[in-house]
Amino acid sequence: MDTSKILTGYENTFNKPAEKLFFSPGRINLIGEHTDYNGGNVFPCAISLGTYAAFGNRSDQTIQMYSENIPDKGIINVSLDKLEYDKADDWANYLKGMIYLIVKAGYKIDHGFNLYIHGNLPDGAGLSSSASIELLMGNILNDVFNLGIDQLDIVKMGQQNENNYIGVNSGIMDEFAIGMGKKDQATLLDTNTMKYQYAPVELGDHVIVIMNTNKQRALTDSKYNERRSECEQALALLQKKLDIKSLGDLSIDEFDRNTYLINDATLLRRARHAVFENQRTLKAVKYLQDNNLVEFGKLVNASHISLHYDYEVTGVELDSLVEAAWQQPGVLGARMVGAGFGGCAIAFVEKDQVDNFKENVGKIYKDKVGYAADFYIAEISDGPSELKISEVEK
Ligand code: GLA
Repeated sequence: MDTSKILTGYENTFNKPAEKLFFSPGRINLIGEHTDYNGGNVFPCAISLGTYAAFGNRSDQTIQMYSENIPDKGIINVSLDKLEYDKADDWANYLKGMIYLIVKAGYKIDHGFNLYIHGNLPDGAGLSSSASIELLMGNILNDVFNLGIDQLDIVKMGQQNENNYIGVNSGIMDEFAIGMGKKDQATLLDTNTMKYQYAPVELGDHVIVIMNTNKQRALTDSKYNERRSECEQALALLQKKLDIKSLGDLSIDEFDRNTYLINDATLLRRARHAVFENQRTLKAVKYLQDNNLVEFGKLVNASHISLHYDYEVTGVELDSLVEAAWQQPGVLGARMVGAGFGGCAIAFVEKDQVDNFKENVGKIYKDKVGYAADFYIAEISDGPSELKISEVEK
């Protein structure tokens, strides 16, 4: 990424040089999908695609924000005295929400600032551009205003922002994966206890290929909230007999013995995905740690199949990519990532086969769906950080 362009963009927009430069990653999830709001385990990692921001202080109470990705909206002006959600502020609400929550938590932001944003995450592709920008804002404020907020608290504020400010009932996975990201490691997070551990992603001769359906997906419009409520209904039925707090509390045996409590075929399938996916995630992490990549890959495939049949969040675009990937030589496994209904999938592909893989999968996809998919190699990266302006080549 040529970050000097971002600094030039800042200067041209605000008529003075930027004072600081920051980066916040996006995320993929290796396995553990739609488990984070069911008290289950997830196994995501931060990636080197993400969001950059050039920053400069102001002496007044105004915040000016410009995104190179959404030039039509121009510079968005916000006042520190008026941080409530405003539809007209469009994308800037993700940032405003974080400022709002941080101020509400009692931290002092005593002057305004300018932000020039550039993201290289494909928009609406399920790689968490929204969590990336939230964690970016939280970390910028923490750094510039010396707030001393714990990264885990910024992560939680990010989720609060999504849930209460933006209005999407998402879990903690995206913000956590980004905020706590570590180079070449994935994080196994138990969303029930918030206990987590890092596990190195050592794939031998394989790399992770991100496959973008180019079918955009807006979380607010999708069936995400519906799936969440179906899981809550299934849980309530199980709780009539069982003393559990979430679907993540159940082993596969306990679930199988008690399925009679869920007297609705759809709810049963939703709950089955949540329970099995949770257990699958634990097993997959173990296989990865034991360097058993073949078994790891099989569980990745099983995850997609469960998301297709039981959870019904895949759709023809994701299925076409993943099924085409399964047929290619040198592929350990492939599955959709994130909420589903479009966005991205990932495949674990032998390095030597990557060019073939892109060509073949790309062709099958285009023939079937009618437009092209995009492919990127995922590099697993650290969480949000400041980039030294002095090190940016002019
Ligand atoms: C979206 C949400 C996450 C998680 C995934 C599905 O990315 O933001 O909290 O629920 O979908 O695993």
